[in-house]
Amino acid sequence: MTHPPSVLVSLKDVSKSYDDKTVLAALDLDIYDGEFVTLLGPSGCGKTTILRLIAGFERPNHGQIILAGEEITQQAAHLRHVNTVFQSYALFPHMSVFDNVAFGLRMEKVAEPEVKERAIQALEMVQLANLAHRRPHQLSGGQQQRVAIARAAVKRPRLLLLDEPLSALDYKLRKQMQNELKRLQRQLGITFIFVTHDQEEALSMSDRVIVMREGHIEQIGTPRQVYENPKTLFVARFVGETNLFDAVIQTKNNHHWTLTLAQQNVCIKARTHLAHLAEGQKVKVLLRPEDMRLYAPADRQALADQPCLSGKVIERNYKGMTLDTVIALEQGGQILVSEFFDEEDPDFDYRLGESVLVSWVANWEVILVDEQVSPSVAVSAVEEV
Ligand SMILES: Nc1ncnc2c1ncn2[C@@H]1O[C@H](COP(=O)(O)OP(=O)(O)OP(=O)(O)O)[C@@H](O)[C@H]1O
Ligand SMILES: [Mg+2]
Repeated sequence: MTHPPSVLVSLKDVSKSYDDKTVLAALDLDIYDGEFVTLLGPSGCGKTTILRLIAGFERPNHGQIILAGEEITQQAAHLRHVNTVFQSYALFPHMSVFDNVAFGLRMEKVAEPEVKERAIQALEMVQLANLAHRRPHQLSGGQQQRVAIARAAVKRPRLLLLDEPLSALDYKLRKQMQNELKRLQRQLGITFIFVTHDQEEALSMSDRVIVMREGHIEQIGTPRQVYENPKTLFVARFVGETNLFDAVIQTKNNHHWTLTLAQQNVCIKARTHLAHLAEGQKVKVLLRPEDMRLYAPADRQALADQPCLSGKVIERNYKGMTLDTVIALEQGGQILVSEFFDEEDPDFDYRLGESVLVSWVANWEVILVDEQVSPSVAVSAVEEV
């Protein structure tokens, strides 16, 4: 990102409805020049609508859109310095892959040797230079999508809008394309607004993530802020796996709080940003699976000061990088624990049904004010405790 960051795109108090149904409500959003931002949120929350408004394929019912200091709210799409890669790609069927990519440059009357060089470069980026002579119908869906990306990037727009451009690709190619896109964005200094359903993709690629819910912005932050300090339960549950506990704040002082959680007293560092919460207040405590630790019952003595919950192993799933264990707690409820392999003892395993103790890394608890979570929210986590 350039410093100090200048704003490239602003949405000011933007609302959009279709047939009386509000899809975006009074949205304010600034996107900085050179930034990679990702819109993340459940299906129907308005991600594509935001891109269509910025690209000029839709007009807001209210509010303003500003691009590079110029109001463009009513400006025709083809006059905006914005390129788009949409969920459904539309390539010209009668043209070769090369001509599809070169098309925009030729329209701009770029000299032919430069057209050739830039089109080939763009095709190399998406690893399709060897298929440049083919027609779109001779490519797979994923390959066609990569041509669409090359075609949009080759024009080096100020702003590139990408609507789930990688969703048709297999895992490995998707990872490669994530790296290539990120590299391209840095090299060319193009601002990217990227839409994905995939939270891992959002976290790994973005400078900032915008988590959306039903037409409004729930939280904007760096991937780390959104993951480690979700502002709401919705964000916590949408971005990553969660273990959620009901808890009550028992005592507060400037340094420490005590909570009761799963019938235990837990002492945590004071949370200054939540200073307004009173003693006796009910809260939710979020613990990420990778912050949980498993111990054998014989270790209880050694864990004297730490909160620890008893339970039995009911699932053990090999995930390649990690081992995920689901524990049924004695007091009811389940939690998920995600551990890296113990390289010293790779054959070690818990048996199903085995009794274990579960604790967690102190002070990694995220405290959230209780709120209603709508049932339509996709919850990727295990049961609440
Ligand atoms: N042309 C339209 N007419 C009527 N309703 C529309 C139109 N376009 C979008 N909508 C509605 O607006 C809401 C937001 O749609 P949008 O396409 O922005 O969602 P999205 O976040 O991109 O979802 P997905 O992840 O499924 O692509 C949805 O409820 C959708 O049905
Ligand atoms: Mg969409």
